[in-house]
Amino acid sequence: MSGKHVLVTGGAGYIGSHTVVEMVTAGFSPVVLDNLSNACPESLKRVEAITGTTIPFYSADLLDKPALQAIFDKHDIEAVVHFAGLKAVGESVAKPLSYYKVNVGGTTNLLEVMIEKGVYNFVFSSSATVYGEPQFLPITESHPAGACINPYGRTKYVIEEILKDLSIAEKNLRVVLLRYFNPIGAHKSGTIGEDPSGIPNNLLPYVSQVAVGRRPELSVYGSDYDTVDGTGVRDYVHVVDLALGHIAALKKLKDISGCKVYNLGTGTGYSVLQVVEAFEKASGKKVPYKIVDRRAGDSASVYADPSLAEKELGWKAERGLTEMCEDCWRWQSQNPQGFKKD
Ligand code: NAD
Ligand code: WQD
Repeated sequence: MSGKHVLVTGGAGYIGSHTVVEMVTAGFSPVVLDNLSNACPESLKRVEAITGTTIPFYSADLLDKPALQAIFDKHDIEAVVHFAGLKAVGESVAKPLSYYKVNVGGTTNLLEVMIEKGVYNFVFSSSATVYGEPQFLPITESHPAGACINPYGRTKYVIEEILKDLSIAEKNLRVVLLRYFNPIGAHKSGTIGEDPSGIPNNLLPYVSQVAVGRRPELSVYGSDYDTVDGTGVRDYVHVVDLALGHIAALKKLKDISGCKVYNLGTGTGYSVLQVVEAFEKASGKKVPYKIVDRRAGDSASVYADPSLAEKELGWKAERGLTEMCEDCWRWQSQNPQGFKKD
């Protein structure tokens, strides 16, 4: 697919920025759209430094259709990788309309413009959250989906259903839905990584902010689950492996018709305390923690069966928990305040 461009929405964000790096390495020409609501322009400057390439960037909102049309008019776009959206579970409960408007409305806007401009290749950031409470483990793509427990998750499920309907109506449309498990880690350079605004919702950013001294201690949400040590188990996947999953998906598009769904995870689950231990080893820092009540909506264990992605995309996560923690720590220790103040 080289020669033409791939539009990356949300390309200044955590997973998007890492994917842009891998796209350049793989010979794709990314063009980034991001409204910077949850990202800094600095992230793309660093992507340019890593890749030695200038990345065309548009500070634009998915809801601004003329701005989307202008990008498709300016560049010869052959595919879209769609990361942009809102992703904070708690905020989605408080502001469901914002989530439906941006995630669902933003995606339908984008799809309308793609079809108007004759662009039919689409890779979408979905989430293991669409599976809801696991009915069996490991979770395969045929696990029932849709019983989401929060509005964020429902937006992902609704978008998946829209894409399935649309790929029936639009025979040229080729869609890969990637259901991510728990992305963590950072690029080896330590120059890009996850930079949440405010108090982190997710485990790894919280642990790394404790290790770097920004927060006093971690709250571990429950120690009475039916797991190896009573704490919640998740399938953590290195963000660079995840990025490479998007390269595999882009390459797959030319061979498929309709809509394909793949889990992107490692297939191995680790408990909260196992993650804390691995992080302490990787960083050489103590991570003080206290056990508190369970967090509403959490499952005991969630991990993927990633074998379909290996079979059909030729993709397999290669980086283990130690490397995830080492890379996360390199980013956090080199950038204690994230992109804002080093
Ligand atoms: P992120 O917030 O770092 O990236 C999303 C980007 O989209 C941000 O840069 C933000 O500025 C941009 N954006 C938001 N609303 C926009 C709008 N209306 N118009 C244009 N740009 C907009 O998040 P991330 O962790 O990189 O996640 C990327 C995608 O992957 C999201 O769709 C998210 O739901 C999905 N996902 C993330 C995880 C995770 O744990 N990080 C897990 C599963 C799925
Ligand atoms: C992991 C484990 C917590 C924070 C969320 C979203 C999901 C997806 C990925 C986008 C759990 C425990 C956490 C803390 C803790 N995002 N924990 N103390 O809940 O698996 O998934 O992010 O699609 O939709 O729900 O990830 O990192 O929040 O939690 O003990 O301060 O760490 O209870 O067991 P989760 P997480």
